[in-house]
Amino acid sequence: MVVLKNIAVFASGRGSNFAAILDKIQKGEIAGRVVCVISDNEHPPVFDIANAVGIPTFCINRKQFATPEEYANALLSILESHKVDLIVLAGFLKLIPTPVVRKYPWAIVNIHPALLPNFGGKGFYGMKVHEAVIASGVKFTGVTIHFVDEKYDTGAIICQEKVAVLPDDTPESLAARVLEVEHRLYPEVVKALCEDKIKYVNGKVVWEK
Ligand code: GRF
Repeated sequence: MVVLKNIAVFASGRGSNFAAILDKIQKGEIAGRVVCVISDNEHPPVFDIANAVGIPTFCINRKQFATPEEYANALLSILESHKVDLIVLAGFLKLIPTPVVRKYPWAIVNIHPALLPNFGGKGFYGMKVHEAVIASGVKFTGVTIHFVDEKYDTGAIICQEKVAVLPDDTPESLAARVLEVEHRLYPEVVKALCEDKIKYVNGKVVWEK
């Protein structure tokens, strides 16, 4: 019997990566189900995608709470009540609080639209990443999927895929080509995580293919 993993998606905005993952779940290609979508925004487009298929959504923002502890507890209480096994960050712009990182070791992943450690860290999000890539003159950018630790974009890397930067690229054209790769790669990683095929062993990420 296949045991489905319970997935929480954290997303701040559009939710196209969430939609790509949901599509593979609906096709039965991923042994998981998205049990909740959490955002730091009140009405992000990603909530419409979730609501359309009856997935519960929650707006949890640090500003709603008096202390960092209360904020972390609010997140933990949703994650625990939905029996979450895996947390997938898909365009989530806030840091994951330490108690949440500690409670879900090697079970939180993020996608970044560049080849980390380059063009990553605080302030490198959305179109800013692609603008910086083009301004730097590098020939390649890409996609990185990594485990999440307590800082921005520094967790152990699971996989990376290169995307060429073309001479006439604008940040928008580059973002669109990078996004195509994201939509293919992220569902593959989530599928492998749901099958326990990606592990962190002896300081290294191992993906059993
Ligand atoms: C993606 O480019 C992802 O790499 C980054 O934020 C963007 C989110 O896009 N972390 P979407 O909300 O999944 O459409």
